[in-house]
Amino acid sequence: MNSEQIQLVQSTFDLVRPIAPTAADLFYKRLFVLNPSLRPMFKGDLVDQGRMLMSMLNAAVNGLTNLESMIPVVRQLGARHVKYGVRDEHYITVGSALLWTLAHGLARRISQPIAGYWQEIQRSRPPEPG
Ligand code: HEM
Repeated sequence: MNSEQIQLVQSTFDLVRPIAPTAADLFYKRLFVLNPSLRPMFKGDLVDQGRMLMSMLNAAVNGLTNLESMIPVVRQLGARHVKYGVRDEHYITVGSALLWTLAHGLARRISQPIAGYWQEIQRSRPPEPG
C-alpha cells in the first residue's frame, strides 16, 4: 500500500468514526444475511461486540502507517479467532459485509451535503418563464 492509498483509507475511516455504532449494526445485519449460520458463533451482546470490532478496525487503520506495531496485535487477534471457531473462508464473508457497510453507511453521509447543495440550487433558481 502506498502512502496515497493509506491516506485514502484513513480519511474514509474518519467518516466512519462518528457513525461507528450504526456501522457496526449494519455490518452484523449484513453478515448474518450473507451467512445466517455465523449468528450462533456470537455469544455476547452484539452492541459490545460492535464496539470491540470498531475499536480494533480503528487501531488497524491507524496502524497502516506503522505496520510493524500492528503485526503482534493482529496475530493474537487471529489466534483468538481460531478459538472462536472462525475459519479462513469466513474472512471473505466478513470482508464483503464490511465493504457493503462502508458503501451503504458512507453513501448516506456523502449524499447528505450533496442533497443540501441541490436544495440550495432549487431555492436560488430563477422563476419559471410565464
Ligand atoms: C477484519 C477482521 C476481524 C476483526 C478486526 C475482528 C475483531 C474482533 C474483536 C475485536 C473481537 C473481540 C474479542 C477479541 O478481541 O478477541 C472479536 C470477536 C469475535 N469475532 Fe471477530 N474480527 C474479525 C473477523 C472475524 C471473522 C471472519 C469472524 C467469523 C465469523 C469473526 C467472529 C468473531 C466471533 C465469533 C467473536 C467472539 C464473539 C463472542 O464471543 O460473542 N470475526 N472479533
